Amino acid sequence: MIRLKTGSVTAGGVQMDNHLVLAAGILGTTGASLARVLSTGAGAVVTKSIGPYPHEGHPGPCFCEIKGGLINAMGLPNPSKDFLTELGPVNGRPVIASVFGGSPSEFREVASWFKGMVSGIELNLSCPHAEGYGAAIGVDPEMVESCTKAVKSLGMPVWVKLTPNVTDITRCGVAAERGGADGIVAINTVKAMRISTDLRRPVLGNRFGGLSGPAVFPIAVRCVYELYDACSIPVIGCGGVSSAHDVVEMMMAGASAVQIGSAVIHDRDIFRSIYDTLYAADGVPPDEIVGCAHG
Ligand code: SIN
Repeated sequence: MIRLKTGSVTAGGVQMDNHLVLAAGILGTTGASLARVLSTGAGAVVTKSIGPYPHEGHPGPCFCEIKGGLINAMGLPNPSKDFLTELGPVNGRPVIASVFGGSPSEFREVASWFKGMVSGIELNLSCPHAEGYGAAIGVDPEMVESCTKAVKSLGMPVWVKLTPNVTDITRCGVAAERGGADGIVAINTVKAMRISTDLRRPVLGNRFGGLSGPAVFPIAVRCVYELYDACSIPVIGCGGVSSAHDVVEMMMAGASAVQIGSAVIHDRDIFRSIYDTLYAADGVPPDEIVGCAHG
């Protein structure tokens, strides 16, 4: 397998220790867990999504495991502004705050709380199961552009996390770029559900959720590939990555950095093991790999 040359990385305006980033939603609710992930080889971490009001999330069950992945319907539970007290242990480290809102002004308000405390902001315009938030507004390119513009006016690096639950993801990617985004994250989860044949009811309390894990990896690769062609800002790959080989494949599709989420559930030290397989002092310069699968 190709190995990459070690060295620090800048992607979408954020300086990171390497190309591997903890995705939003997993191990991102406390400063201690974010610090632990950074200490086990992640180049940067993204927090759990924080919104304008404290919220408990959807009624349970909130997730179920399936062959090749898991479906979650957490419902964006978060303590809102109180989360800021968690950032102490990761002060000065590469942390990206994931934020959500129901309008451009709500996005700007929530993002403003983090100014001077994090390396960048990731806009959650892509959660597939939250009424009025996430993909409910992020499928509309005009809304993507306005929310991005509103947050970008704060003067911080802005990544926009996109939903794959659209016919053409590049329309939202181009809209984020028009709004001034520094990077595009692709993809959030794929809208999905399971039904309990014993109970004759949907398994999840919210009925629908978002599928993540290895089952979505080929969808994520396709989206990264399309966005790399359509946009000129960096694309950060996300979706079902669980090995160094997956990281290289995602980078060949066009990813400048790669997020890892669901895979940490089965291996808390996955960043260390991927890092050790992926990098070598005499490895290939990463720039030679990013987007090399394009003709
Ligand atoms: C959730 O908290 O509901 C998951 C977040 C997401 O899918 O973006």
